Amino acid sequence: MQNGPVVWFTGLSGSGKTTLSREVEKMLHALSISVEALDGDTFRKHLASDLGFTRQDRHTNIERAAYVAGLLSRHRITVLASFITPYRSMHSYLREKLDPYIEIYVKSSLEECIRRDVKGLYRKSLAGEIQAFSGVTDPYEEPEHPDLILDTEQCTPEEGAREVIALLQRRQLLYTGSKS
Ligand SMILES: Nc1ncnc2c1ncn2[C@@H]1O[C@H](COP(=O)(O)OP(=O)(O)OP(=O)(O)O)[C@@H](O)[C@H]1O
Ligand SMILES: [Mg+2]
Repeated sequence: MQNGPVVWFTGLSGSGKTTLSREVEKMLHALSISVEALDGDTFRKHLASDLGFTRQDRHTNIERAAYVAGLLSRHRITVLASFITPYRSMHSYLREKLDPYIEIYVKSSLEECIRRDVKGLYRKSLAGEIQAFSGVTDPYEEPEHPDLILDTEQCTPEEGAREVIALLQRRQLLYTGSKS
């Protein structure tokens, strides 16, 4: 039995990872495909509240998320993981650990993310009120080998999600949890 695909959304805060993941989730539900979303915010709250934002802690956070994603994947569940995932060393770690691993670079310029400022964190970061914010006072390394780049300044969430579904279809990874 093949593992469920792990679709990993990486990108700056506010680039659109969670929004896209929700759209993809709706589309997969409509296709009766078993899907589970892992989101950076809820994951940190429940499974990584002991971690901060040093490079080491960020790595540990991603390693834990990869572990959970792997467990779900083994049960043929399609996993949608939305984490900033700011280091290339993380991208290569994930590609090595997870199979099938589909990396989506959710791309938006820093200026646009600052304009959106969904959580008000850019304002705080630029005002010096929070430390180690990816893209501002901490690195965000663009992925070198993404399976798909979605420029969220150029497409709607629905168009982006359709591209993800089309990619899964091309790779023959759209399958339900019940078939062997
Ligand atoms: N094509 C698009 N895809 C996704 N989001 C878009 C798109 N166009 C505009 N947006 C908007 O961009 C914002 C993205 O916010 P979202 O919370 O999804 O970002 P995020 O990448 O999950 O950030 P964080 O890392 O902080 O959780 C939303 O307000 C969304 O409506
Ligand atoms: Mg998010």
